[in-house]
Amino acid sequence: MAKVALGPLSDFKQARYVLHLSNGKRLVLFRLPSIEPRQGKKSPAKNETDDGWSYFAMEAECPHAGGPMQDSQVDIEDSAYIVSCPWHAYDFNVETGESSVGIKACTFPIDVRSESVTLEYHDEKTDDITLSTSEPVSEKMKLKRDHGATHQASTTSTKEVTHELPSEGPKYLDADATLCDWCGHILSTSNPEHKIELTAHLFALFTEEGSTMALGDGKVTLPAIPPRQDLEEVQPGRMPRPGRGGTLKSRVSMLHALANIELWAIDLAIDICVRFVAFQTNVPSDGISRTLPRAYFHDWLKVANDEAKHFSLLRARLEELGSYFGALPVHHGLWMSATDTAEDLRSRISIVSLVHEARGLDVNPMTIDKFRKAGDAESVQTLEIIHNDEITHVTTGHRWLTWICNEEDTDPVQVFRANVQKHFRGPLREPFNAEARMQAGMDPRYYENLDRNAVQVA
Ligand code: FES
Repeated sequence: MAKVALGPLSDFKQARYVLHLSNGKRLVLFRLPSIEPRQGKKSPAKNETDDGWSYFAMEAECPHAGGPMQDSQVDIEDSAYIVSCPWHAYDFNVETGESSVGIKACTFPIDVRSESVTLEYHDEKTDDITLSTSEPVSEKMKLKRDHGATHQASTTSTKEVTHELPSEGPKYLDADATLCDWCGHILSTSNPEHKIELTAHLFALFTEEGSTMALGDGKVTLPAIPPRQDLEEVQPGRMPRPGRGGTLKSRVSMLHALANIELWAIDLAIDICVRFVAFQTNVPSDGISRTLPRAYFHDWLKVANDEAKHFSLLRARLEELGSYFGALPVHHGLWMSATDTAEDLRSRISIVSLVHEARGLDVNPMTIDKFRKAGDAESVQTLEIIHNDEITHVTTGHRWLTWICNEEDTDPVQVFRANVQKHFRGPLREPFNAEARMQAGMDPRYYENLDRNAVQVA
């Protein structure tokens, strides 16, 4: 049994960390308020501090299919902390690793009672294991204004805001507004800061316990292209080349381009809620056509909320580097995919989630590597948060395309490939990040040997 020194307790004051060990394993360290008051106990447990915090460690990859446990939801059940995987919601006791579905996650005893926090780790091959790095997991948006308790979006002030704040706050809708009302409003909001605040607010409203927000009927006016305030728009092919990340100018250009993509990704996730709210599956052999369940809207609002978080992180990073969002031209190439697939949900998911977002999984590691080589650790941290979230977004697309195909007695692989032939110009480009795609549910049958001439239309 190896005792791995993690460092002084003062280094671990955030809620979650990803720990990278020298043997290549990744764990999640949770810091959670101790559940039972310690009065009456003779002494605190080894993983408990005098000021009422408990620490737990478990493997970072969900034992079901590798979901990112650092993004899990934490609840208390029967006086124990339960963490639920963001991919398929399997739940695990964070102390014992036991799950109601029968599989068990590996957990690791933590000791915070000595000078250094230590972790017990069993590796059959070696006892010589050390901590390589620990990364705090960011859960928060970096909004420019603090709305306090009135609107529940989380806030973290940015270090130095060099670009002016929006002069007024966003417009919030009445309590009886439907999901479609909110989506139309967010799509029509041109100020990026307002858009991300409204998106976070809608996600909080729709997902709060007992929420009864009506979906609406989709009969709201949607903009042909979501407007953008104070941005210079150019054609996709006319964007300045960002370079290879070796210079500050090049890195700013890359972060700016990514922030623009994240802003469009918010609109795409909001649009897939409102545009397809009345979607019905084709009548399968059992003769029953189905509408989309509420879980569908929950999932896509989670994606929209993540994209808003990503935009806020990238915008804040641009400002830390002395620039701001809007300093460079942007394009709306991603929105063209929304227009091309506006008539069919299967096409929309295939092209936006399983082509464009899956492509992001392929290129993100290379982008991250450029920033790492340039010694820009803060940007690396931001980009890694984004990459991990993006895997879950491809999962969301895969899950709902599979749901539709199951209802319609069709094969999701064939439906996807047929849609690529119909709507995507050009072949899918290698190299593929097979591991990340697999984590998201996309095995090679989806994307290998796929070009316009080779695809069979289903
Ligand atoms: S529940 Fe975690 S990957 Fe499926």
